[in-house]
This record gives sequence, structure tokens and C-alpha cells, in this order.
Amino acid sequence: MAVLSRILLLASAIAGLASAQTILNNGQVVAADENTVPVAAENVNNELVLTDDLLAQLSSLQLANVSLFNFPENLNSTNNKRALFPGCKTFPGDLLWPLQPVWKVFDLLTGGALIKTVPVGAVCYTNNEHYNANKCQQILDHWSESATHANDPTSVMSPLFQGKTCMPQNGDDGTCELGGFPSYAVNISTVAQIQLAINFARNTNVRLVVKNTGHDFLGKSAGAGALSIWTHNLKTIQYIERYTGCGYTGKAMKLGAGVEVGELYAAADKYNVIAVGGECKGVGVTGGYIQGGGHSPHSSLYGMGADQVLSIDIVLPNGRFITADKKNNPDIFWAVRGGGGATFGVVTSMTVKVHPKTVYSGLTFYVTSGNDSLANVTTTQFIAGLEAYWRRFPDYATAGHYGYSSVYPRFDGQPGYTWQFHPWLAPGVKLVDFKKTIAPLLAEWKAVGFNVESDFWEYDNFLQPWTSHFPVEFVANANLRTGSRLIPAKNWNSPASLNQTIAALKEVMQTSALIMYNIVGKTQTGVDNAVNPAWRENLLYVIVGSGWSDDSTPAQIEAANKAITYTSLAKLRSISPGAGSYLNEADIAEPSFQQAFWGTNYARLLSIKKQVDPYDTFWAPTAVGSEGWYIARQESWLPTQNGRLCRK
Ligand SMILES: Cc1cc2nc3c(=O)[nH]c(=O)nc-3n(C[C@H](O)[C@H](O)[C@H](O)COP(=O)(O)OP(=O)(O)OC[C@H]3O[C@@H](n4cnc5c(N)ncnc54)[C@H](O)[C@@H]3O)c2cc1C
Ligand SMILES: *[C@@H]1O[C@H](CO)[C@@H](O)[C@H](O)[C@H]1NC(C)=O
Ligand SMILES: *[C@@H]1O[C@H](CO)[C@@H](O)[C@H](O)[C@H]1NC(C)=O
Ligand SMILES: *[C@@H]1O[C@H](CO)[C@@H](O)[C@H](O)[C@H]1NC(C)=O
Ligand SMILES: *[C@@H]1O[C@H](CO)[C@@H](O)[C@H](O)[C@H]1NC(C)=O
Ligand SMILES: *[C@@H]1O[C@H](CO)[C@@H](O)[C@H](O)[C@H]1NC(C)=O
Ligand SMILES: *[C@@H]1O[C@H](CO)[C@@H](O)[C@H](O)[C@H]1NC(C)=O
Repeated sequence: MAVLSRILLLASAIAGLASAQTILNNGQVVAADENTVPVAAENVNNELVLTDDLLAQLSSLQLANVSLFNFPENLNSTNNKRALFPGCKTFPGDLLWPLQPVWKVFDLLTGGALIKTVPVGAVCYTNNEHYNANKCQQILDHWSESATHANDPTSVMSPLFQGKTCMPQNGDDGTCELGGFPSYAVNISTVAQIQLAINFARNTNVRLVVKNTGHDFLGKSAGAGALSIWTHNLKTIQYIERYTGCGYTGKAMKLGAGVEVGELYAAADKYNVIAVGGECKGVGVTGGYIQGGGHSPHSSLYGMGADQVLSIDIVLPNGRFITADKKNNPDIFWAVRGGGGATFGVVTSMTVKVHPKTVYSGLTFYVTSGNDSLANVTTTQFIAGLEAYWRRFPDYATAGHYGYSSVYPRFDGQPGYTWQFHPWLAPGVKLVDFKKTIAPLLAEWKAVGFNVESDFWEYDNFLQPWTSHFPVEFVANANLRTGSRLIPAKNWNSPASLNQTIAALKEVMQTSALIMYNIVGKTQTGVDNAVNPAWRENLLYVIVGSGWSDDSTPAQIEAANKAITYTSLAKLRSISPGAGSYLNEADIAEPSFQQAFWGTNYARLLSIKKQVDPYDTFWAPTAVGSEGWYIARQESWLPTQNGRLCRK
């Protein structure tokens, strides 16, 4: 932190900016620095928080600019006017953009946690001051691994929506620009730092974003000209043998906002319990995952990630730190469980239910169709096998299974497809029973010539099949557009609607990859939250994706992007009117996203948003309440975060 402050001081000296800020120290006016400015954090109930007392003390010491960190009730009219600024968010270069000495005060109050953004790819740009050939090679070698981005304060796994500026792959030509990256990030280790950041952004009208791991598909954890709250280092995991409260008595875990799925599963295994999380190890559990709903290998049994939540600790847009549960702050409790991240505040931790350990069985396979020697089956047999599977979806989700598989056109450009099961997992089911349930399917596969050798297995715990049979996540592909659709069980109710569903899937798979989840977000007795009601009716959750190559023309890229919104997803929407899409893995240009992501819950979510965040301190693309704003100068078919955020 000392180094950073010295750099800031040096920068302000070089730029000839206002002299360093001051503070009263024993009656003397002295420079505000690490020795004179106390870190603004006080221990209250074992959390380091920002209090009115602390702010009053700093104010009486005449610390310059300290009023910029006030809670709304303590603002004078000058600051209030700023908070309700009518036009755009203040952008770097604007007259009202905080000067370097102000950022210095912020850094001091956080104990040196403020980081001025250096894009992760800067080390690859030969004309950049951060150029470093070794570090660049490391970034390039590990670019598709989520940890590369999660461990960086501002990197995100959706470069397409960051604007693809400063891609490490392009270091030899061009200049590294910030693009959609925020200007600053706060490396969070205390609640107080989050409170300082929220109050500061609200009072200065600076755009605020929240980044945990950066997994968001839609670029929601980035934003040009923003201050970012980086929660990745909040790693506490606490096991609670007997949680009692709000109608639940049983085992639970309290998870810090930075805990990732892999860390949760390892801890759950240690305590001999099962936790509900996603499929990939790097996703942030109580960050975007649970707040967006959270589908899981256990969803057909225990419901969504959000259904497990017992209690939420959160800093609200007014900077106040509260606990929300069934009894306290029930509106916030309802909204945060499914209403989406970066909307109602910054979650610092959640307490979630965990379940008894059980047995798992399932299968994996990898099969390729075509007419050459690489093919296992002909494409006709392949499609017959796929149809046989699709038609039986109700049998499996109702049995609690998780069917996770992908179908895509062959990578080598030969005619045909690849279908990969990774995996079909049956929680709580022994292999002999699993085989009984799927016997009719296996028989039909044999009859239609879909002869595949599946790998069958059984375990007495979840960690092993999850470690051995789930895919390694592959992220940060800049040439890929994705979207999703929830196809309801009623499509299986009549032969005609089922045929229509299958015909649509067969059409879409000719041009898009289909990542398919045969699951239902099973309704849990006594649980009421903001999760998209379409999950409760779901049988097939499908992600579609299509890409382009580095040498595609602008027209081809535009066509590929538009095809996801207006062709593939349009087709899937047409067979599932009134259903929805999963907001965490959605198309950023989803028409009527409010209905698609939240259905009948949207009206209540919007009213809660207006109540807790009248300042619109929090904004993210397609978040609740986002429709009042836009990012300047964007293509309608490719809205990036690379621009100024303005009110409509
Ligand atoms: C490879 C991969 C696999 C995935 N697998 C699954 C899966 O199996 N099941 C599933 O449901 N989803 C899955 N997802 C989607 C995932 O749930 C979302 O991308 C989710 O938003 C990630 O949350 P995060 O906190 O890790 O990411 P981030 O990008 O850091 O954050 C996501 C959103 O939440 C906000 N946010 C983050 N932390 C907080 C906080 N503490 N308080 C308030 N807002 C916050 C951010 O501002 C952003 O809007 C997957 C995504 C990828 C890329
Ligand atoms: C910060 O404090 C300085 C005085 O040290 C003052 O001139 C400046 O206007 C303040 N900036 C803001 C944004 O309040
Ligand atoms: C009101 O806020 C401004 C800007 O931060 C500050 O300069 C001024 O001293 C404050 N006035 C009072 C009465 O606190
Ligand atoms: C962030 O803070 C943690 C302490 O909480 C520290 O270990 C880590 O090095 C910091 N990261 C960066 C990039 O500054
Ligand atoms: C496979 O089929 C394609 C057209 O469907 C044809 O062009 C190709 O020659 C065939 N290859 C073989 C090995 O038969
Ligand atoms: C498909 O064929 C390959 C060999 O070409 C084989 O390794 C693989 O196991 C086969 N897949 C299935 C599911 O039978
Ligand atoms: C549905 O499709 C199957 C197989 O393609 C066909 O045999 C059946 O007649 C169709 N049923 C309806 C109602 O269209």
C-alpha cells in the first residue's frame, strides 16, 4: 500500500495537481498520509465496519474530502445535489471527476486497498509501461483458465462485452486501452471498505461495479469509468453443525462473498455434507451465482442455489450494513435470492443450508457422427439417439437427475455432430437403479443403431464424480456469443408440442452449439424468493452459442451475433411462449428481458430496487431497473461496457 500511495503522490506531483490533502494532527495541519490518517474501520460484532462516529471523528480532524464518504442522512445539500445528478455518471476527464488527491484520501481510509486499473493484458503491449514478456507469456498460456481472471482485480471472462481492448493476444500492434474496464478497484477485505466505496461512488456520481470472479456472461462485472468493488478475497467458510432460525434447524455453512464453487465443495466434503453449487469450480457461490438463481447438479432434488439461503449479510446502496433473513429486511432477503447481482447492494456473506451425504451414479460418453473413420455412428443414427433421449426428459428430471450434455457441429468441419455427456449424474441413486431407469432409452438406442459405449460409475460421495466427470471450464473466448432458454415441461405434454420442440432443437443445432441441462429447479416447501418462476416448470435448460474466427469480416461478426438473438433464440422463444431465460447465462440483447429473467416477479423486484436504491448507485446491463439507463455509443447488436453510462 505504501508503494501505491507513493506512486499516487508522485503522479500528482508530476501532474502538478493540487497539493496533497491535509489533516489536523495534535492541533497542527499536516499532510494526510498513512501516519496521520486512521483506517476508517471499527470492530462492531466482529466485523470491521464504517460508523457515523468514525466519520464524525475524521471530520473533526478536518480531513479534506471526508464528507464524500458520508451516509446519505449526513450529507449537506451540496453533496445531495451531486447524488441526484440528472445526466450521465461522471466520467474520467469530466470537470467533476475526483482529482488524484481525492483518490488518495479514499486509499488511505481503506488502508491502502485502492488499485488503479492496469488491464490484465497490459504486460503484452510492447509500447506499454507495464510490458513484461515473461508475465505476458504466462497470461497467454493461462488465458482460458478462470483463475487468470478471478485473481486479477478487473479482468473479466467476457472480453466481447468489455470491448476487447487490451487483449493480450494483440500486444504486438496497437495500444492497451482501458475500454470497458473500471478506472479503479478496491481490493476488499473488510465490510468498511465496501461501505466507503459505495458512499464515495454515490456521493461523487461515479459509476459503481462489483466484481467477484468475473465469470459473468454479459460483462456485468465491468464498466468504463467505474469504481469496482472486488470481493474475490472474502474467503471465509464457517461450518454450522446446528443452525436454528426462521423455520430451519439443521446443518449450514456461512460463506464469504469470494468463496468459489470448488472451495465450497471441498469444505462440504470435509464436513461430510452436500452443498448446492454450480458445475464449474471457479464460479463465485454467493456472488453472481446464488443472486442470479444458481442451477446445480442438485437442482432437480434440492432446488436452486438461491433456495438454500437462510441469511444474507449485505451493504445496501445507502452504505448501511445489514442482515436480511425471513424476519429482518424480508424484502431484501426475497429480492437478493434470484433478483440478480449488483442491484440491491454488495453481499458480504450468506448462510446456506447443506444436505446429508449420499450416493451418486451416472454416465459419461463422447460420440461423433458422420460418414468417415472418426465417426461412431451415422448422423441419422445420431439424431435418432438424440431424439430418443429428448423424448424421455420427464422421466429423468422427476427422478432427481442432472443431465448435462453438449451437442455441436464437428470441430473439424466434416459433416456430422459431436455429443458429449459430461455427465449424466443421478444424486441419491445407486448404479443398479440408475440403469433400471434408463433401460428403455438404452434399448431404443440399440434399436436405432445408436451404439455407444458409455462409461458408467458409482460413488458414495459427490466430490469424486464432480472432480472426475465434469468438464474443465474454458473461459474468455472473445469470439463467441451466447444466450439461453428455459423450455417448460408442458412442451412434453402432447405429441404435437413435443414434435415441435424437437424440430426446433434440430433446426437450432445446425448453426449453434447446444449446451443442454435436463433439470428442474424443484420447488422447495416454504421457500419463496425472486428466482425466475420458469425454473420451477423447466425440463430443458439450453444454452446456445455461436462463434466466429479471428479473420471474420465485420459483416460476418455482426451476422453471427444477430443470429443468436434473432434466429436461434427466436426459434426457441417461439416454442416456449411465456417461459424464460436464465439471467446469468443470457443473451445481453434478450428482448423483454424483464419478463424472460423474472416473469411475474419483476414488478415487485423493480419496486424494491426503487426503494433501496433511489440513486441508481448500482447498475448493470439487464439488471433490475437497468432500463432507465444506456451506455453511450454502442451498436444495438453488441452493447459493450466500453462507454459512458447515461440516464435515458
Ligand atoms: C464456465 C462457467 C460455468 C458456469 N456454470 C454455472 C452453473 O453450473 N450454474 C449456474 O447457475 N451458473 C453457472 N455459470 C454462470 C454463473 O453463475 C454466473 O456467471 C455468475 O454471475 C458468476 O458469479 P461470480 O460472482 O463468480 O462472477 P462475477 O462476474 O464476478 O459477478 C457476476 C455478477 O454478480 C455481481 N456480484 C458479484 N459478487 C457480488 C456481491 N458480493 N454482491 C453483489 N453483487 C455481486 C457482479 O457485479 C455481476 O453482476 C457459469 C459461468 C461460467 C463462465
Ligand atoms: C477536496 O478537498 C479539497 C480541499 O482540500 C477541495 O478543494 C476539493 O473541492 C474537494 N473535492 C471534492 C470533490 O469535494
Ligand atoms: C458540504 O459539503 C461540501 C463538499 O464536500 C463541503 O465543502 C462543505 O464544507 C460542507 N458543508 C458543511 C456544512 O458540512
Ligand atoms: C488484496 O488484498 C489481499 C489481502 O486481503 C492481499 O493478500 C492481496 O495481495 C491483495 N491483492 C492485490 C492485487 O492487491
Ligand atoms: C461424406 O458426406 C459428404 C456429403 O454429405 C461427402 O461430401 C463426402 O465425400 C462423404 N465422405 C465419405 C468418406 O464418404
Ligand atoms: C467412438 O469412437 C472412438 C474411436 O474412434 C472411441 O474411442 C469412443 O469410445 C467411441 N465412443 C463411444 C461413445 O462409443
Ligand atoms: C411426432 O413425430 C413422430 C416421429 O417423427 C411421428 O411418428 C408422429 O406421428 C408425430 N406426431 C405428431 C402428433 O405429429
